[in-house]
Amino acid sequence: MKLGIDFGTSYTAAAAVVDGAIQAVRFDGGATQFRTAVYLPRYRAQAADFRADEGELARRLASARRAQAALARQLEALPAGPRLLSEAELETREREILRREWLREEAEQLDVAKALDHAVFGEAAVEEFMAAPDGALVESPKSMLGYRLAQGVREHIERIVTAVLRHVRETAEAQFGKSVTAATLGRPVVFKGTAGLESQRQAEDILRDSARRAGFAAIDFEFEPVAAALYHHDGLERAEDTLIVDVGGGTTDVTHALLGADQGPRVYGSWGEPVGGTDIDYFLNLYGLMPHFGRNRCQLGAHRYSEAANVRHVVEQRAFRQGDLSERAGEFAHRLARLQLDGGTTYLNYEAERAKIALAQTERTWVDLSRFEAGLLAELDAEHLARATGEVFPKLRRVLAQALAAMPASPERIFLTGGSSRSPLVQALVRELAPTVPLLVGNPSFSVVSGLALRAAGRYRLSPATA
Ligand SMILES: Nc1ncnc2c1ncn2[C@@H]1O[C@H](COP(=O)(O)OP(=O)(O)OP(=O)(O)O)[C@@H](O)[C@H]1O
Ligand SMILES: [Mg+2]
Repeated sequence: MKLGIDFGTSYTAAAAVVDGAIQAVRFDGGATQFRTAVYLPRYRAQAADFRADEGELARRLASARRAQAALARQLEALPAGPRLLSEAELETREREILRREWLREEAEQLDVAKALDHAVFGEAAVEEFMAAPDGALVESPKSMLGYRLAQGVREHIERIVTAVLRHVRETAEAQFGKSVTAATLGRPVVFKGTAGLESQRQAEDILRDSARRAGFAAIDFEFEPVAAALYHHDGLERAEDTLIVDVGGGTTDVTHALLGADQGPRVYGSWGEPVGGTDIDYFLNLYGLMPHFGRNRCQLGAHRYSEAANVRHVVEQRAFRQGDLSERAGEFAHRLARLQLDGGTTYLNYEAERAKIALAQTERTWVDLSRFEAGLLAELDAEHLARATGEVFPKLRRVLAQALAAMPASPERIFLTGGSSRSPLVQALVRELAPTVPLLVGNPSFSVVSGLALRAAGRYRLSPATA
């Protein structure tokens, strides 16, 4: 059976066509998507798991016997002395020493491979991390795929993505009662990352390799907005020249297509800009919350605050947590020390996301910072949101303008989807760029995955889209 998988920056979903109808995979509690977050509990070595390295044990025993023989010669000269250990006692002692050394070494490392067996996914991952922050939380691994990655980091990310995709596959198999070994994976038109083709290729390679490791033997890719187009096409009665706009968590993707026509969907072009809702969260955090931790108010370098707010970047998060900030932070040292601990940065990021959503409806909102200092409260207002969107919206405008300019005429309709399309500000931005085009706000979460399911079922053949 072949699955359509929308491995999103913020949410992951999957679906398949069963008996002609699209069926969503149901995750924990029946939800049709889960937060793309993985918690790895700290693996605790159990003494019972110890297996002695027999070669090493033999070497140690040989050396212990030599020491014992030397001791025996010394003892011969004495009238009375300690009893020598028997062969069995010698072996027990050496085995015990090896076991203690092993336990000490195991305690020092977070064993990712073992922790993955106990991985927790989705919102539960974040909750577990808050409750037991000595494990590791990886959020939105998709955001990392296109960056230059040291070998160890790449392997780490690949294991995380593998765990997510395996979770999807196993959940689907349990639900459909069939083996699932093939998938159509969605991909953004442009992944987040360092600019250039190489970074795009790397991102797709990591996804493909991870999908293989997760048990998908056959994998193909489709642009996410093209998938959304297919889904929209499926429900259209008459032909419509359409611009699909998917504003997600990490990327904004646009496709121009003729949909609803008898000859099937025709894709003319796709464009992408690697920014989305999570970037607004990042800037809102930086401009609205980080000043309470001394951003621009103490000697500490600005990069420390970027690291703290960049919760998706495992290396930056580690750098922030391990940094010695006390000297330059002055009066903010205590709050920063708390921020370095116990999932503090994750908490702030979630609050920034919540505030972003709230501020679309109300003038101001508050974030409880009392976990960092008793009684501390941050007030965020429309001004903060405007500064944050001011960093992101020009890029949305640019990609929309680019797509509109490439079209021979205005589209007959704009189909707006993706979680960020719920924002009235995003809707207003699209209206502003194409004021005369009717705007249809589709299901923000399921058009991409539904289109991927159609694609996986081989429902449509398309001419390749171009970036
Ligand atoms: N009411 C809302 N107002 C503003 N933003 C919202 C709202 N609801 C959800 N979002 C944002 O939508 C984003 C998630 O959208 P979506 O689920 O489409 O992303 P994704 O598919 O996981 O990411 P991508 O496609 O970019 O990889 C998040 O940034 C979230 O904060
Ligand atoms: Mg998406």
